[in-house]
Amino acid sequence: MAKLWGGRFSKATDTQVDDFNSSIRFDARMYAQDIEGSQAHARMLGKQGIIPEADAALIVKTLGEIRQDIEDGKVEFLIDAEDIHMNIETILISRIGNVGKRLHTGRSRNDQVALDIRMYLRHEIDTIQAEVKALRTTLLSLASEHLATIMPGYTHLQKAQPITLAHHLMAYYEMFHRDGSRLDDCRKRLNIMPLGSGALAGTTYPLDRDFVAEQLNFDGITQNSLDGVSDRDFVCELAFDLSLIMTHLSRFSEEIILWSSHEFSFIDLDDAYSTGSSIMPQKKNPDVAELVRGKTGRVYGSLSGLLTMLKGLPLAYNKDMQEDKEQIFDAIDTVKMCLPVFRNMIATMTVRKDRMLSGAKGGFTNATDVADYLVKHGLPFRDAHSVVGRMVAYCIEKDTVIDALSMEEMQEFSPLIQEDIYDAISLTTCVNERKLVGGPAMETMQNIIKRYQNEDAEA
Ligand code: ARG
Repeated sequence: MAKLWGGRFSKATDTQVDDFNSSIRFDARMYAQDIEGSQAHARMLGKQGIIPEADAALIVKTLGEIRQDIEDGKVEFLIDAEDIHMNIETILISRIGNVGKRLHTGRSRNDQVALDIRMYLRHEIDTIQAEVKALRTTLLSLASEHLATIMPGYTHLQKAQPITLAHHLMAYYEMFHRDGSRLDDCRKRLNIMPLGSGALAGTTYPLDRDFVAEQLNFDGITQNSLDGVSDRDFVCELAFDLSLIMTHLSRFSEEIILWSSHEFSFIDLDDAYSTGSSIMPQKKNPDVAELVRGKTGRVYGSLSGLLTMLKGLPLAYNKDMQEDKEQIFDAIDTVKMCLPVFRNMIATMTVRKDRMLSGAKGGFTNATDVADYLVKHGLPFRDAHSVVGRMVAYCIEKDTVIDALSMEEMQEFSPLIQEDIYDAISLTTCVNERKLVGGPAMETMQNIIKRYQNEDAEA
C-alpha cells in the first residue's frame, strides 16, 4: 500500500519495519476519539473557510459512517497504514477521494495523537472513577453493618488496641476517597486541547482552536506548541494514580489473605470468590486477593516504564512516545479488572464476628485503657504505663488477662484501682470511649458514614 507520506521515498518500507513501527494493534482502541477529533477539526476548517464548507460536511458525514462500520466489525485495519490515525484517513480517502485529502490541513499526527490520547484517557478515567465509587459504596454498606463488630487493631502485626470492623473498612474508604480526588485532578490537567500545535511549531492557518476545544468538551487549549505535542505528564500522572489505587487494593488484599487463613479465621470468602487446589482436597484459596496483589506489580511496571521512556527525550515529538500506549492501556485494563472483582469478593465474604471478638480479647488490647484509668485517678501517665506493664507481665506468668484478675490482685499493683475498672476496660468501653473524630466509637463512625453517604449521593 502506498504510504500517505510516501512522496519523498523511492523504496517501499521493509515489511519488518512496518511490523515494528506500526501501532495499530494497540491504538485501534482510540478509533472513536480519533474520529470525533477529526470531525471537530473538519468542522472548524470549514467554518474558517480553510476548506470548502461542503467538503467539511462530507468529511464529517463519511467519518461518521466509518465509525459505524468499525463498530459493526466491517473494517479491517492495516498494519502498513501504521496507526489508527492513518488507517482512518486512508479509509476516508478511499471513500471520498480528494475531499478526504483535505482533512489533514493544519494538523500533524503529532498533535492528533496528543489529542486522541487525552480524549481516550479522559473517557477511561470516568469509567475507573465510577468503579472506585462503587467500591466506596460497598465499603459504606459493609461498615454500617459492622459498627459494633469488635476486632483487634494491629501495629507491627501485633495486637494493639480494640477497634471495629467498620473503623477498619472506613480506613480503606479514606484511601479510595483520595484516589477519586486524585483522578479528578488528573482529569483536570489532561483536559486541555492540543490541536493547533501542528508538528511542533504551530501552523500558519487561521485555526479556531477554542472552537475545537469547545466542541470536544475541553476546558482550554495548550499554550505552547512544543509542549502541546511532547507533554505526556498526564499519562504518567494517571499511571501513578492507578498505581496508588493498586497499592490500596493490594494492602487490603493482603489483609483478606491473612484474615481468611486458618490462624485468623476472621472471614470466610464466598465459594464463588475462592478456588481449590488440584491436589489438596481441603484447600480453599484466596486467589482473587492474591492476583490483585500480584497485578499491582505490573501497574507499577507501567509507571516506571513511562517515566523511563520520557526521561531522555529531547523536545518535541519522538517516536519513543508511541510506547506510552501499551503501558497506560495495560495499567487501565488491569485496574478496571481488579476493582469490580475485588468489590464483589468483599461484598460476599462472611465476617466471623466471634473470631474477631476473641481475637480482640487476647493480646492485652485493653492495656492502654488500664493505664488511662489510672491517669484519670491521678497517676502521671508514665507511672501508669509502668504499673500496667507489671500487670501484663504478671498475667503472662499466670496465663491470664487483666480483666480476669481479682480486685485484691489488681490492688496489689495500685490502690487507685476500684470495682469500676472492670467496666472501664471492657472492650466495648475501650472502643466507644474513643469518640474523637477519627476514632472507632460507634457514634463517630455512624456520623462519618452518614457524611460520606450524603457526599457520594450528591456527587
Ligand atoms: N502512532 C504515533 C504515536 O502513537 C502517532 C504519531 C506519529 N507521528 C509521527 N510523526 N511519527 O505516537
